Amino acid sequence: MAFFGYIGVFMCGIIGFSGKLDAKKVILDGLTTLEYRGYDSCGVCLVDTDHKFSIVKSTGKVVDLLPKVDEIITKETHVGIGHTRWATHGGVITENAHPHHAGLVNLIHNGIIENYLSLREQYKLDNALEGGTDTEIVANILNLIYKKNKNEPLSSIKKLTDIIKGTFAFLIMFEDRPDEVYAIKHVSPLVCAKSNDGSFIASDITALMPYTKEFSVIEEGTIVCADKDSLKAYDLKTLKEISLKTETITWSVDTAKKDGYNHFMLKEIHEQCTALENTIKPRIIDFNIDLSNDGIEDNAYEFFKKIEKIHIVACGTALHAGKVGASVFQDVLNIPVDDYIASEYRYSNTLTNDKTLVIVLSQSGETIDTLASLEKAKSKGAKVISIVNVKGSTIARNSDYVLYTHAGPEIAVASTKAYTVQVATIYLLLTKIASVRSAIDRSYEKSVCENLYASIENIKTALQKENEIKDIVKYISSSHDAFYIGRGLDYVFSLEGALKLKEISYIHTEAYAAGELKHGTIALIEDGTPVIAVCTQSDIATKFLSNVKEVKARNAYVILIITDGIKYEKDLADIVIKIDKVDDKFSVFPVAVITQLIAYYTAYTKGLDIDKPRNLAKSVTVE
Ligand code: M6R
Repeated sequence: MAFFGYIGVFMCGIIGFSGKLDAKKVILDGLTTLEYRGYDSCGVCLVDTDHKFSIVKSTGKVVDLLPKVDEIITKETHVGIGHTRWATHGGVITENAHPHHAGLVNLIHNGIIENYLSLREQYKLDNALEGGTDTEIVANILNLIYKKNKNEPLSSIKKLTDIIKGTFAFLIMFEDRPDEVYAIKHVSPLVCAKSNDGSFIASDITALMPYTKEFSVIEEGTIVCADKDSLKAYDLKTLKEISLKTETITWSVDTAKKDGYNHFMLKEIHEQCTALENTIKPRIIDFNIDLSNDGIEDNAYEFFKKIEKIHIVACGTALHAGKVGASVFQDVLNIPVDDYIASEYRYSNTLTNDKTLVIVLSQSGETIDTLASLEKAKSKGAKVISIVNVKGSTIARNSDYVLYTHAGPEIAVASTKAYTVQVATIYLLLTKIASVRSAIDRSYEKSVCENLYASIENIKTALQKENEIKDIVKYISSSHDAFYIGRGLDYVFSLEGALKLKEISYIHTEAYAAGELKHGTIALIEDGTPVIAVCTQSDIATKFLSNVKEVKARNAYVILIITDGIKYEKDLADIVIKIDKVDDKFSVFPVAVITQLIAYYTAYTKGLDIDKPRNLAKSVTVE
């Protein structure tokens, strides 16, 4: 056995199909769509019309796998599975790509098997393994169980799940059952669908959108068997057939296409007016916030009245959206509104109790740390409201209440439109809570609604700065480091601006609260260091502009993003980008657009793979 170190296969995209269509095309198209979940390596297992099983896999992206599949699999195929992988440690090598084959079993996996070492020993697999993945061990064990179990698939899968520990979404094909694809999951997400063309199983619905709008979430403890005529579900304990609950997705298949844009990210930046409108419109009636269609009415109101604190929990960009909400509304609500990084929250003593409202935010609805925080909060008696983009996702299903954002599918790894609508949704929710608690009067609620509507126009105006920004980024794109600075809410916006810039341009970018610069960070400012200074908070603008002067005095190259009307000295900045005058609490929307465009065009100028930045994946489904 070649030993490359055992590898957890974490945030992967998986798809399976059995039906009338060309399986090669369905699987490879699906993998292309799911590639945002991971793109270190990919592979397929397809069955041709002679019932011959072929595995083709390699490191790199799906586009590079395509010619190899065409070369090796020349006959028609109608059944298959495919996998695109994001690995955490160990080599990205073909041996570790999925599918894994052992005897009669071909298997793909999203998740991590924690007891792989003891299983390897127990089943004496040392000589059977080619690569270094936990998944290969599972494929081998399942093959042994299957043989022992007289080739009975359901009970074999059940036995497998009895002995493995960890998280998983498996798709399995047994070579003596060439029409069938089996699925089982624990924690890692899976959905399935049946159309006239056949049966589909995938990590998420984006891969199924070209074929159907009806889908079912595969629940814990359910085995699914897909063949060309049927999609059956079985209870894992009893192995009796059960029914699948069908849901409908409202997203259109076109929203998951680039529509002439060079990248999904740019398309998604431009979709923000529509996303914002779709998210707020159903929830604002006559300038009153109405969340009754989200189930937030009398029962929730009773809870809102008794809460003593609010915890906002999320990761990455979603956390930044939560931080904006916390910063704006703590004063308004006059109770502690604290934001937490989900991976910290789940392991800290956060004093969560039955008088805590926990708001979790997640585009994908699958982020494992956010999900674990949600479960922890519930176990402490807190109520959880989630703000989620993907319908039927685990976080949405496990929350007490869910407010869906209506951004449509977000494909680019870097989050843009999801952020905007998360901010808008948390504004609506926190205003509603403030209103129920009589912390605000009617005019405040009305002004939030008016400003949210006005933000649609403010985003439009900010988008018109696109050409101006294309020129500005030339300077940033040749730098190794950059800084975002701001004070108050502008500091919070800076955190997101810096994340966007670093994740797709690979320029080391940090966000600093401008008042903190003198306590250490200003030592990093050299001749020409780009500093993007965000100045939209009128109450603190004078103090902030003094901080900008301090970096300018150290020869920083200053790009000032400033609200029209705030006065500044002409020689303070090398470049000035003005945003329209807006209520300070709502400058988040135009600033988001400007900072997203700065990040996009910087990465574009550098010729980088913007939609799939290195080392990242869209959906982070293990810790
Ligand atoms: O799906 P989620 O919103 O839970 O994802 C959380 C983060 O991984 C995500 O916001 C990430 O930081 C962004 N894609 C970065 O642009």
